[in-house]
Amino acid sequence: MTDSAEPVPRHVAIIIDGNGRWARKRGLPRHAGHREGMKAVREAVEGASQLGVEVLTLFAFSTENWQRPAVEVSALMSLLKHYAEREERELAAKGVQVRVLGELDRIHESARDAVASIQRSTAGGSSLRLNLMISYGGREEIVRATRRLAQRVAEGELSPDEVDEAEMERHLFTADLPDPDLLIRTSGECRLSNFMLWQLAYTEIVISPVLWPDFTRENFQEAVREFQRRDRRFGRVRTG
Ligand code: IPE
Ligand code: IPE
Ligand code: MG
Repeated sequence: MTDSAEPVPRHVAIIIDGNGRWARKRGLPRHAGHREGMKAVREAVEGASQLGVEVLTLFAFSTENWQRPAVEVSALMSLLKHYAEREERELAAKGVQVRVLGELDRIHESARDAVASIQRSTAGGSSLRLNLMISYGGREEIVRATRRLAQRVAEGELSPDEVDEAEMERHLFTADLPDPDLLIRTSGECRLSNFMLWQLAYTEIVISPVLWPDFTRENFQEAVREFQRRDRRFGRVRTG
């Protein structure tokens, strides 16, 4: 288990990665890796629930991922639909509040109803908040927020001097959430790939070598233990 004397991160974000390599190692098509990755989503949700994490954010599809081959994009959209349909009842029963965040206008028609339905039926959940970042890009999010702020200034609702960090945050997808304390990326890659560029300013990063379909609740706990060993300074010096 984790170190009970040390604080548990309130918000854990995960860049899920390695589905394609997991499939290739087995001579399977990439979509088989994505399908297997659903198990790891369940593991992460369990791991987070067991530890009392308040918010779990999963990066599942980036704005850049739209450039993957059409068959892979379709497979991912269809998995989103199936995940939402299959997990709706259980997540609602467990009190998990699910939200899908990103440029949702681009999400395939076939997945939209399932996404709307899971968001509706889990809206009252208060044990864990689960954010699925789909068609999400950190730069796009910042541009979108800036555009909204510019509009409000142009309409005389806000003065330029009132544009500050708090105002910016109110216009991000994560408006009502604390910044992630811990970011996990699986499959050993050491980059952000355009994920939560604003929110990760002071987040602790743990890179796990495990490919996403093999990721378990124990791997989640291991990452939290690593987080608990870190000394977060936020630019200050330690006193005492
Ligand atoms: C993560 O696995 C899932 C998505 C980005 C949609 P990848 O599909 O990126 O797997 P690799 O990196 O090719 O192994
Ligand atoms: C990052 O993974 C995006 C998601 C996890 C959704 P990618 O596999 O797309 O990132 P790169 O291409 O390795 O940077
Ligand atoms: Mg990848």
